[in-house]
Amino acid sequence: GLPPRVRIHEVGARDGLQNEKATVPTGIKAEFIRRLAAAGLTTVEATSFVHPKWVPQLADAEELFPQISGIEGVDLPVLVPNERGLDRALGLGARRIAVFGSATETFAQKNLNRSVAESLAMFEPVVARAKEAGVHVRGYLSMCFGDPWEGAVPVPQVVRTAKALLDLGCDELSLGDTIGVATPGHVQALLSALNEESVPTGTIGVHFHDTYGQALSNTLAALQHGVTTVDASAGGLGGCPYAKSATGNLATEDLVWMLDGLGIETGVDLAALTATSVWLAEQLGRPSPSRTVRALAHK
Ligand code: HMG
Ligand code: MG
Repeated sequence: GLPPRVRIHEVGARDGLQNEKATVPTGIKAEFIRRLAAAGLTTVEATSFVHPKWVPQLADAEELFPQISGIEGVDLPVLVPNERGLDRALGLGARRIAVFGSATETFAQKNLNRSVAESLAMFEPVVARAKEAGVHVRGYLSMCFGDPWEGAVPVPQVVRTAKALLDLGCDELSLGDTIGVATPGHVQALLSALNEESVPTGTIGVHFHDTYGQALSNTLAALQHGVTTVDASAGGLGGCPYAKSATGNLATEDLVWMLDGLGIETGVDLAALTATSVWLAEQLGRPSPSRTVRALAHK
């Protein structure tokens, strides 16, 4: 069966905007996040406290966070790779953070300049100190299905790293299909393997990119397995159309269209969300790749 309700973890302002060529002005980002919250999204990932040279698009985190932290009724998680990032986030009053590990060695090196083991060691004090401060911690795991350098990623390798992240004390896990190569059978196989190693489905969220057009099918497969937390990006933001490994996330509008049709509650007002993505697309100077945004924008 399918769950009656799904929590959407909106990542457009972070995963989306981190991949945009143009750096969006801070005021536009704040307005974007306000509008996402007003459309009914209750979890809006806001930015990253990473090294500004690694992700210049999000280098304004200090300026942005105070502009949005007063918005009511919304959780605003932020990405934090290390203690320096945690200090920055806690200093601004962040109440939810996410660390981000990799199931593969190559991506761990490229994304964090560390091996998988070294990155887990880097996260350990971050998670411990966050928990001590009563801060909620999400653990992202990238390259759970395929890796552009290493190819297919074996399920046991993913399960091992997922468990290591949870063992650090993460409250939830988000399984990332960073390059969008997953298919529904693979998704269900990974979820079953995690359950067999005593990771309960309730702690698992899914994070699909739509490179091969599989994000929605993969989501449905995860829902059928009992998953109730789904990551999505307003307007399908993010990614470069020329980089085969960097297409945007599942579009939140496409997800809400499917969930509305299935009678699954999200609390999201699809018209308000679509209007937000149309507005942001105007700011970016290019149309949203979301099929649902395109269909509804011309009604
Ligand atoms: P490093 O170069 O190894 O850093 O980078 P370091 O620890 O050697 O420190 C070097 C200098 O950077 C030091 O300054 C630090 O203070 C400074 P110095 O002493 O030389 O003057 N520094 C920082 N400054 C500000 N904020 C910080 C910070 N940390 C160190 N937090 C590091 C290591 C982790 C910092 C770097 O690799 C990094 O920032 N990586 C972030 C990459 C990233 O954000 N990627 C995108 C998010 S992941 C993703 O998108 C996948 C996901 O969507 C799921 C999926 O789809 O799979 C989540
Ligand atoms: Mg992502």
